[in-house]
Amino acid sequence: LEAFRAVELIARKRDGGALGRAELAFLVEGYLHGGVAEGQMAAFLMAGVLRGFTHDEALALADILVDSGERLDLSRLPGPTVDKHSTGGVGDGTTLLVGPLLASAGAQLVKLSGRGLGHTGGTLDKLEAIPGFRTELDPDELLRIVGEVGCAVAAQSERLVPADRVLYALRDVTATVASPALIASSVMSKKLAAGAATIVLDVKAGDGAFMPTAEAARELAALCVEIGTGAGRRCVALVTAMEQPLGRGIGNGLEVAEAVQLLGAAPEASRLGALALELATEGLATATGEALDAARARLRDLWNSGRARERLARMVEAQGGDPRVCEDPAGVLPAAPVVRQVTAGGSGHVARLPARAVGEIAGRLGAGRQRKEDPVDPAVGLELAVEVGDTVDAGTVVATVHARSEQDADWAGDRLRDILVLSGEPVPRPPTILDRVGGAS
Ligand code: URA
Repeated sequence: LEAFRAVELIARKRDGGALGRAELAFLVEGYLHGGVAEGQMAAFLMAGVLRGFTHDEALALADILVDSGERLDLSRLPGPTVDKHSTGGVGDGTTLLVGPLLASAGAQLVKLSGRGLGHTGGTLDKLEAIPGFRTELDPDELLRIVGEVGCAVAAQSERLVPADRVLYALRDVTATVASPALIASSVMSKKLAAGAATIVLDVKAGDGAFMPTAEAARELAALCVEIGTGAGRRCVALVTAMEQPLGRGIGNGLEVAEAVQLLGAAPEASRLGALALELATEGLATATGEALDAARARLRDLWNSGRARERLARMVEAQGGDPRVCEDPAGVLPAAPVVRQVTAGGSGHVARLPARAVGEIAGRLGAGRQRKEDPVDPAVGLELAVEVGDTVDAGTVVATVHARSEQDADWAGDRLRDILVLSGEPVPRPPTILDRVGGAS
């Protein structure tokens, strides 16, 4: 005899009740192994999205998801282990900077990443723009590279958190992604299974993010930190703006080139560099107990001395890629056949450069994918030349388009001019970091 009846649990959630851990485990494991039907799981998820889940339910869900598969064992790594996760955005190449930077400071970053979907980019797609770069690493190889270099980025194994994979696929097609408890348990289950002692989260808020407002993002960040801390990890989250793209390069190879270029300049010279420095600072301080100011100063020195860029080159080489990408990105990365500048249609102050629409342009050029199985083009995308708060005249170059054809470049230029909002009044530069949850004091 089964311990529970799925239909009764669904009805309880439909009526606004809460489920205990064993009841949630019965549904999740039943769905993974076939005892709970897809229609029942879909009904349960929709009831949960509409009625909400308690904190206890979110914590239990994360635990149950982790228990569905294997875990990485990082105990052989010598340094403090740190993981970093962004909830996704446009021009968000922070992993390419944070990993090598933390590695240069003696920490170890084991990063399991995903691919881009819809308007957002994915770290695996970006790194695979480097000729030869391999992201399919088995756990032994992944840990060997992290042991030698201090950082590595790999595709998530099918054996880690299998229940999240099947649930996420179902949520994706049943409009049941948008629940803080479901998102937090899904994100954190993967972090917990990946094993790092310290977890740094970058929860995005705004037009280009899952969470439209800073309040919603803060709620998600707090729930993620609570799940991580509850599972015995050190956990810190920054809530950051995703109204405009974070970096200037939007597209796989273009984002690698930008990361290399930023590691050769002062971190605070760009919004992307400044945020990467802060995320690494939070991670290092939380992992080591070092004061934030001391950690930041140490990391800034490592960045400015070129050590972080050296680490990136070593990671690229260890994963089969051409390390000369860190000396001469344009000579190594694939180039698009059509490269064209786009100029502003009028004069004024840049008031909006909506991240989602910019990401969609790059996606349509071929940098992104609409379905999971689509290939991506490593060469195409946009290089933005302006950001919110800049002043432009008619004729100022606002971006460079990298496209497969003249027709694609025409379309992208027109579309970019359409979405760029200019104001007659000066526009203040918006902050990147909106809030902080958990972490070192
Ligand atoms: N990313 C995840 O990994 N899970 C979610 O539910 C949403 C975003």
